[in-house]
Amino acid sequence: MPHHDTPSGLAAEIDSTSGKHSLFEEEIRKLPISVCSVFLNREGVILPATFRETETVLTSRDHGRTLRVFPLTVHLNKNVVLEAAPPQTPIRTAGKRVAVLFSGGPAAGGHNVLAGIKAVLGKDNTLLGIRKGPKGLINGDIFEVDAGQLKNIVNTGGFDFLGTDRTKIKTPQQFEKVKETVVKNRLDGLVIVGGDDSNTNAAFIAEYFEREGVRCSVIGIPKTIDGDMAVGKYLPISFGFDTASKVYSELVGNLTQDAASAVKYWHFVKLMGRTASKITLEVALQTKPAITLISEEVAEKNMSLEGIVDYIVSIITERRLKGINHGVVLVPEGLVEFIPEIRTLIKELNKVLAEYEIDIRDLPTMEKKRDFIYPLLSPQSAQLMASLPKEIEEMLILDRDEHGNVKVSQIETEKLLIDKIRYRVSEIKRHPDKFFGEGEGKFKATSEQIAQIKGMSLSTQSHFIGYEGRSGKPTLFDAAFTFNLGLTAGSLVLAGKTGYMAAVTDFEKGGKVLALPLSGLITTEERKGKAEEVIEKSLVKLTSPSFEAFAINRDKWAQHDLFSSPGPIQHWGPTSRQIPISVALDQKYADYRNFKLGEEQKVEFV
Ligand code: FBP
Repeated sequence: MPHHDTPSGLAAEIDSTSGKHSLFEEEIRKLPISVCSVFLNREGVILPATFRETETVLTSRDHGRTLRVFPLTVHLNKNVVLEAAPPQTPIRTAGKRVAVLFSGGPAAGGHNVLAGIKAVLGKDNTLLGIRKGPKGLINGDIFEVDAGQLKNIVNTGGFDFLGTDRTKIKTPQQFEKVKETVVKNRLDGLVIVGGDDSNTNAAFIAEYFEREGVRCSVIGIPKTIDGDMAVGKYLPISFGFDTASKVYSELVGNLTQDAASAVKYWHFVKLMGRTASKITLEVALQTKPAITLISEEVAEKNMSLEGIVDYIVSIITERRLKGINHGVVLVPEGLVEFIPEIRTLIKELNKVLAEYEIDIRDLPTMEKKRDFIYPLLSPQSAQLMASLPKEIEEMLILDRDEHGNVKVSQIETEKLLIDKIRYRVSEIKRHPDKFFGEGEGKFKATSEQIAQIKGMSLSTQSHFIGYEGRSGKPTLFDAAFTFNLGLTAGSLVLAGKTGYMAAVTDFEKGGKVLALPLSGLITTEERKGKAEEVIEKSLVKLTSPSFEAFAINRDKWAQHDLFSSPGPIQHWGPTSRQIPISVALDQKYADYRNFKLGEEQKVEFV
């Protein structure tokens, strides 16, 4: 038998890289990071910034209620936005202890937040990590982070260094336990990295600490791939959005190309993003697919489920008449919550679930729960619920997260649409005279085209793209954005501020660093049938430049294959400094191809 030697060194090389880091990760860990100038002295050394009050006051929508719920933090911070400035004289602090936790879904760049905080703390102060999110804070699961660990995780994706969870801190016992952890570990600062619900947690903890006389700063960091944690020109976007939308754009771009290559499939792609369609809009601008649904438009135009089906089928049919029997349809994850009749159903369900929570929980089978709930719904909602696939009905009844959100990622909207569309297409094929000919709403078609439609077969593929994008390696933008958010949070703690969220804006001008008062961002939302304080979500506005850019182009994209395939995220090369197109359009930047966040720094940890 011939004997093959292993090529020299290869086996060893494979062994040595089979640990935590791939070759690619080894390279990106060494990449320099852009740092806003407020954090740099003349020699380019990173120092904590100071903060001054601006003239801008953020007023929450229900100011009276906010004032009642957050009297102490509103009084302390006056809801005034702070702006960072370079320190007049270097601030020397020592012995401060700052702990960080991740909360909610992962988003690219979380590890750089830790790196940024440590960079301003320096070697005289201590950075601590809290394992498994708010639950770890309650349980006191906390450890000291050393510089070596940071070197290993800088510029890598995911939250795996600490882990995360979605516990809502709400009971007096939980607040008491949080206080215990803070006091026991002598924390001067607690940094909560999260989305709207997690920053709401931060606002409540800040208020509680003020009341209890706990001298520990609470600072939030805006994280979520959904992009709904944004505050106009003060915070154009949350971290993670850029990376996730680029991962999704690569995949959707590949599908548009696959559709045009195989010339037989309609790919229905549900994209993550929860309530907001911001990701879907960004991916549409990047890839130009045949059809994109935007939930906020569906709500504004009061489009029913049947109306949405009609819209999609009309494009499928028109393309077919042009000889195009393929395409890509983008469906935002939260669509079902925006379809008016489903929205009403969810509202009614929330009310029933809140009122009869225990009775429903105690019923042993799904069948029994159904029998209990149906008579409590309006006839229209009961009828709609009965018409939905069993799995969707079950999700709507059973699944809410800790914060009372419907778990839209688990609802297979893309499959629901496919079912309905296939049925409608079969109707068209069976009764073409109802759909073609003269008259309103009918397609004009020759008898030859009608024959073509009758012979049409609709092949569909469904995809849900979501988890694939949350822990990707941060883009250069997310890597820099998160590092600067960490620098901001660390500086705020050292400056003794509490109840703020770190923010960076003006990405095209070198970056402006701000601190937004959390209590100024609070609004009330109905959760599990009850009004609750939460940070206001930022949704797609139909008057925004990004939506308008999409709206004026979508008919062209529907009529012809004009798709664009942006390819993988680049950490080097021409598109490496690109920010999301939607963000650049809405912020009225001249160019989306080049963010400038200060100077590039090779970051060393001591
Ligand atoms: P966050 O808002 O906590 O960052 O979560 C984002 C998200 O990825 C949503 O887009 C999605 O609906 C949800 O998390 C999924 O949650 P889970 O990780 O619990 O399945």
